[in-house]
Amino acid sequence: MAYGLLSGKKGIIFGALNDMSIAWKVAEKAHEEGARLTLSNTPVALRLGTLEELSEKTGAEIIPADATSLKDVENVLLRSMEIFGGKVDFILHSIGMSSNVRKGLSYDALNYDYFLKTLDISALSFHKLLLLARKHDAISEWGSVVALSYVAAQRTLVGYNDMADAKAMLESIARSFGYIYGRDKKIRVNTISQSPTMTTAGSGIKGIDTLIDFTDRMSPLGNATAEDCANYCVTLFSDLTRKVTMQNLFHDGGFSSMAMSMRAIDQYSKSFEECD
Ligand SMILES: NC(=O)c1ccc[n+]([C@@H]2O[C@H](COP(=O)([O-])OP(=O)(O)OC[C@H]3O[C@@H](n4cnc5c(N)ncnc54)[C@H](O)[C@@H]3O)[C@@H](O)[C@H]2O)c1
Repeated sequence: MAYGLLSGKKGIIFGALNDMSIAWKVAEKAHEEGARLTLSNTPVALRLGTLEELSEKTGAEIIPADATSLKDVENVLLRSMEIFGGKVDFILHSIGMSSNVRKGLSYDALNYDYFLKTLDISALSFHKLLLLARKHDAISEWGSVVALSYVAAQRTLVGYNDMADAKAMLESIARSFGYIYGRDKKIRVNTISQSPTMTTAGSGIKGIDTLIDFTDRMSPLGNATAEDCANYCVTLFSDLTRKVTMQNLFHDGGFSSMAMSMRAIDQYSKSFEECD
């Protein structure tokens, strides 16, 4: 059911690759709620993914960009303002990549060139986006910027590797820029810390199937799906959350506050039974 929460609003969605992407679901939901959109991803992602389909569905123009390139990101902002005939009201940063994870290099054997690339793509790109948006005064007053994070920023999780450092930096950038942007322009900057989700990026995490099962058993409300995340993003883009900024908002069915649950104990005890 749509509520018209984004009626008349304009937004940029970075990071939809295919229909499993969290950004894809956010774009669909924002469109349903009345927003006009532009979409962005890398030229490679445009070739390998199916963004054209989302573009047709939502009437949104695709503006290719490598999020680490200041020139590309600036172009996304300027072209979006040209299309909308004015400023944007919200932006989703749904971008992450680690070559160390992809190549299976462990945290105690990282390739540092890859590590720097991980930080640039997954965290610094958020700073670049905010800096350029502010420079061009691209976001309306009371606008909202959201990036997607993960609980590995706070808690160690085997296999999440250098992405954990990138997410910690991403969340810190949201706070540091959130202060500046809030003070000067009344613009909100937040991160959403989402449950593990089966997407192209998610499937790169070591043992993702087991992880998804574990977090689901641990969370009183169960894992948050990509669709759930899209609904939450819509509320953060809407006028109903105008005083929420500089926060890392856990959207994980309660997982981040749990230490042990009955459903997880039940499953864990079964492994002892098998040993006996
Ligand atoms: N899937 C999960 O379990 C999970 C959980 C919490 C947070 N997140 C975060 O959600 C976000 C979206 O990931 P997803 O799970 O939807 O996977 P996804 O693979 O669909 O999206 C990742 C996107 O990042 C884009 N990207 C990579 N390098 C880029 C670059 N240089 N410039 C621009 N874009 C680039 C990819 O093309 C892709 O569209 C990421 O930040 C991810 O870390 C995912």
